[in-house]
Amino acid sequence: MRQAWDEVADIYTAGQAAGRDYYRYAFFGPAQVQLCGEVRGLRLLDVGCGNGYFAREMVRRGAHVTAIDLSPRMVELAEAQEVLAIDYRVMDAARMAESFPSGAFDIATSCISICDMPDPAKVFSAIHSVLRPNGRFVFSITHPCTDTPYRRWERDRAGRKQWLCIDRYFEQGAYEYPWSGWGRDFVTPGFHATLEQWIAWILEAGFQIRGIREPQPTSDALQSHPDLEDAMRVPYFMIFDVTCRNIIPREE
Ligand SMILES: C[S@@+](CC[C@H](N)C(=O)[O-])C[C@H]1O[C@@H](n2cnc3c(N)ncnc32)[C@H](O)[C@@H]1O
Repeated sequence: MRQAWDEVADIYTAGQAAGRDYYRYAFFGPAQVQLCGEVRGLRLLDVGCGNGYFAREMVRRGAHVTAIDLSPRMVELAEAQEVLAIDYRVMDAARMAESFPSGAFDIATSCISICDMPDPAKVFSAIHSVLRPNGRFVFSITHPCTDTPYRRWERDRAGRKQWLCIDRYFEQGAYEYPWSGWGRDFVTPGFHATLEQWIAWILEAGFQIRGIREPQPTSDALQSHPDLEDAMRVPYFMIFDVTCRNIIPREE
């Protein structure tokens, strides 16, 4: 896993710098930022930070940010970007509880990363253990109902997207996520799970769900990137807003 992300870190970062990642920058990223709301002064942990996109958004809004990623190269590239007060660490999200005390953070965020990790149940539980009581976790994943192991747009003769064909929704586990149009095509490891499974992981880790969002592009985003039109028709991403359930110790 670490090696897979290390190998694509440079091309991923160069693609983003070249404006290729407008789904993130113009569409679901701003929706997730908006859902986080006021973060000024909060101790915030960004999980699977990559080259730091979401961590930078949060520190600019006044949060005290710690950001972790498994890939040393991603973290190197994050540190080479804008100089902002972000505490970057190379770390496996599933093992965070070994590095941070319980209650160390007020809020955690994760932008399309937890769906790239092989053991989300462990990661949810690790995040829960480093959040304070009632702490929040706001995270995005690719939409489990449309990001299935088989997905293809049926096109008409002019190449226009007609409808999205999906299959194998109930096949859970590892698959390769293809990236094209980023200079060189590449794949990254992804893990598909059903919506039912995601909700079970969230609840089993001790969170309760405050809300979810299935973002659609804004009219401004559509104007600058007309091909986001497909995201007006089917949901590509899901953003969850969850909080730690208060466990009240039983009196003996
Ligand atoms: C699609 S990238 C997203 C990066 C960033 N959040 C963004 O929005 O640009 C997914 C990131 O998850 C990281 N990752 C995968 N497994 C991980 C794990 N077990 N612990 C921490 N980070 C992990 C990868 O190294 C990669 O940087």
